[in-house]
Amino acid sequence: MCGIIGVLGDHEVAPILVEALKRLEYRGYDSAGIATVQDGVLDRRRAVGKLVNLSDLLVHEPLAGKAGIGHTRWATHGAPTLTNTHPHRAGRVAVVHNGIIENYRELRAELAKCGIAHRTETDTETVALMAQHMIDQGATPQDAAHQTIAKLEGAYALCFLFEGEADMLIAARKGSPLAIGHGDGEMYVGSDAIALAPLTDRITYLEEGDSAVITRKSLTIRDAHGDPVDRDMRTIRIANARVDKAGHKHFMSKEIAEQPTVISEAINFYLTNDGKDIALPGEGIDFKSLNRLTMVACGTAYYACMTAKYWFEQLAGMPVEVDIASEFRYRQPPVTDGTAALFVSQSGETADTLAALRYCAGKADQILSVVNVPESSIARESNLALPIHAGAEIGVASTKAFTCQLTVLLLLALKAAHMRGKLDDDALTDLLSKLRGLPATLNNAMAIEESVQGVSQSLSKVKDVLFLGRGMMYPLAHEGALKLKEISYIHAEAYASGELKHGPIALIDEKMPVVVLAPRDALFDKTISNMQEVMARGGKIILLTDQAGADEVSEDVWQTIIMPEIDPVLSPILYALPAQLLAYHTAVAKGTDVDQPRNLAKSVTVE
Ligand code: F6R
Repeated sequence: MCGIIGVLGDHEVAPILVEALKRLEYRGYDSAGIATVQDGVLDRRRAVGKLVNLSDLLVHEPLAGKAGIGHTRWATHGAPTLTNTHPHRAGRVAVVHNGIIENYRELRAELAKCGIAHRTETDTETVALMAQHMIDQGATPQDAAHQTIAKLEGAYALCFLFEGEADMLIAARKGSPLAIGHGDGEMYVGSDAIALAPLTDRITYLEEGDSAVITRKSLTIRDAHGDPVDRDMRTIRIANARVDKAGHKHFMSKEIAEQPTVISEAINFYLTNDGKDIALPGEGIDFKSLNRLTMVACGTAYYACMTAKYWFEQLAGMPVEVDIASEFRYRQPPVTDGTAALFVSQSGETADTLAALRYCAGKADQILSVVNVPESSIARESNLALPIHAGAEIGVASTKAFTCQLTVLLLLALKAAHMRGKLDDDALTDLLSKLRGLPATLNNAMAIEESVQGVSQSLSKVKDVLFLGRGMMYPLAHEGALKLKEISYIHAEAYASGELKHGPIALIDEKMPVVVLAPRDALFDKTISNMQEVMARGGKIILLTDQAGADEVSEDVWQTIIMPEIDPVLSPILYALPAQLLAYHTAVAKGTDVDQPRNLAKSVTVE
């Protein structure tokens, strides 16, 4: 959701701001803008659409100055028009914002009483107007920013720049992440450390409610009560921050192809040297003392949790509750003794997941998280954060983060099963050795790409697609449908195979492709019966199965994609691949914007 950047530089900042915005564009790409102070004068450039439009504008209308702020927008309040594009300006004040100011209507009304009118549809403009109003009342820019921040309700990461102040930025965060970067004689503000990675690896994260006054030589932070506080400066690993397509047409295709490597890294991180046990970081988790696991996440991460429920229940005999964060947080579910709450999030910043975590803090025995960004808010607010080692995921549609989440969740379930006496040493060693073989199997499975491409040509012409799966393939069916929807804009739904006859089968006709995920496992026959029911009504089947499965089904199946054989426990990780490739090639065939699909953003830091 919106990326923000601020730089107090030693050189011209416009190119630095644009470069940093490129690294933040995954957070939103409806419009982009920058503002600088040059010779005391505040000025800005803004453009609707992708960042490249702003870069083009700056060629013709450059912006000088060594202090500046920038923004890439995912529209919440107001359409993606030039007027609504950040930075918002009122008099001496320019501001960029990520989040939602929930009380902006009240603030607007307060300003209106003083004869101050708004010109945009955004909540953010109110912040700039309010700060300028304070300045008009005699406040210094610094005090004006602080008095304004004190009035704000909702979620925000803010960065202020003022006319006449070429050595000061004011930043504040509540509910949205914000990192301060320390350079040599330069200082930076960014929505995340990746944005700042080429500039510095020395980062101070603001905590909830913090505000900061930043100059080139100093950083002064105050907490939510206005008291001065020290926040650690850490040196972060920036190897993960490399952002290029490595010869692929899209980040998504690169990230799909990277899966064998990153999954292997995740496995190696958690396995002991002899490969026979799983070592969790820190003090680990005492699964014997737990009697329940509550797993909460959004979107793809939620489907990873749904899959993990099967693993924890079947392997470890642990009762598991899985919920969508946006529902969980307002349901007031009782969190009973002996419950560990586990939050899964690629970004570690998803607002709903973070709110669900905070709901459980103090209630659950342990707060665990499975994250891709170890410095994220969700990781920092957990008792134990388990990294997935997927590396930076830039494509908006999650791929390698999903399979790495699955890998870490499976390792956790195996650990729980072993600790709870449900899996003996030999069985654990056997499954771990199979897991170590998974990256190679996944690599071999890449050979399906050509046949998937062929199927995708046909899929790109349809309006609706159904995905069916049973058991561990059911969450995968959901993930396949989500991937297809989000990048190809084709309507797709997922059903548990057995549920089809309870209503959705009415949708089936000869125009309806139905993707059936059915490895030859214990549930294969059941799924295939449901598939026959679809075929009997003219539905066109795309069957994802292995050779043994393909040998058993009739020739009337429209398309069969043959996957390598795999132990059923590992099949969800392997079968993510055809689901991803189907969506990817269908989107490519349709010509949609694969890496930055419409209306979406990578990191959802608003409710
Ligand atoms: C879909 C996708 C989203 C995210 C969801 C949660 O491809 O990427 O559904 O999975 O927004 O995001 P994180 O994992 O960052 O909490």
